[in-house]
Amino acid sequence: MNKEREEINKRQREFYQNFDKNLPSRVWSYFRNKALNNLKKQIGVEQDIYHLHKSWFGDLSQKKVLDLGCYAGNVLSMHLAEHSKEYLGIDLSPKGVAILSRRLKNISGAKAEVKDFLSEEFIEKDFDLIYAYGVLHHFKDVDELIIKLEEKLVPGGEIISYDPLETSKPIKILRRIYRPFQSDRDWEWPFSKKTYYKLAEAFEIKERRAILGKAKWSAFIGLLPISEEKRIQKAKAWHREDWKNSLYSDEAMFKCMHLSLRMKKRQD
Ligand SMILES: C[S@@+](CC[C@H](N)C(=O)[O-])C[C@H]1O[C@@H](n2cnc3c(N)ncnc32)[C@H](O)[C@@H]1O
Repeated sequence: MNKEREEINKRQREFYQNFDKNLPSRVWSYFRNKALNNLKKQIGVEQDIYHLHKSWFGDLSQKKVLDLGCYAGNVLSMHLAEHSKEYLGIDLSPKGVAILSRRLKNISGAKAEVKDFLSEEFIEKDFDLIYAYGVLHHFKDVDELIIKLEEKLVPGGEIISYDPLETSKPIKILRRIYRPFQSDRDWEWPFSKKTYYKLAEAFEIKERRAILGKAKWSAFIGLLPISEEKRIQKAKAWHREDWKNSLYSDEAMFKCMHLSLRMKKRQD
């Protein structure tokens, strides 16, 4: 394995291992959780993503699933493990994998392992579905990632992903300001337009949805003299617009903060 990546993986593993103790990350996640997650809750973004992904999974009973970068497993990790034919979660973090392994204990055909997706030691393949929630933007080299994803999928196999975008101008500026203080900056590569177009060239984009485009501004209208009820109403309406428009308009999609993709490996 290339030396630089080995070093980054090691630091990333330690970062997630010590996540509770890392002060700058705790400060950042406090603000992010307060401002952004409050807004997401108020407008129902999490439920929308949850239902969207569940509907994209389809019938899992005959599917071999890879939960890439599973850490301790999220709500849908458990759904995948319980309903698929075979489930494998992999992550760099022994701590995350140990927690998930305990949760999977009584589910047959389901297991979690400490593995680097890019390493040669990871030999499992022929997955029908790769679920990567908050994971693909941790790979610096998109071309290398695409080759690996293609290699691991059966023909017609699908990837379901969810990642931050860096394409909205004001967010890009905010991220630049924060970056010097960001302890996980060496393995955080929010999608650029180039990243999206590389993925779209390699895979068939079956569907996509992006969030927090217009809706992100509703966090600021709280500063105006309008009622909380009106603010949430407006935020929900903007969220519905983002959800609908990001499906077909690249311009609307690139104004958003997070992107979910359903990608299919081409048959040829
Ligand atoms: C933001 S966390 C997402 C965790 C989980 N999917 C969830 O929804 O809670 C990203 C995870 O990706 C894992 N990861 C990053 N690069 C990886 C790689 N090359 N192979 C396996 N896992 C990786 C990290 O260890 C980390 O736990």
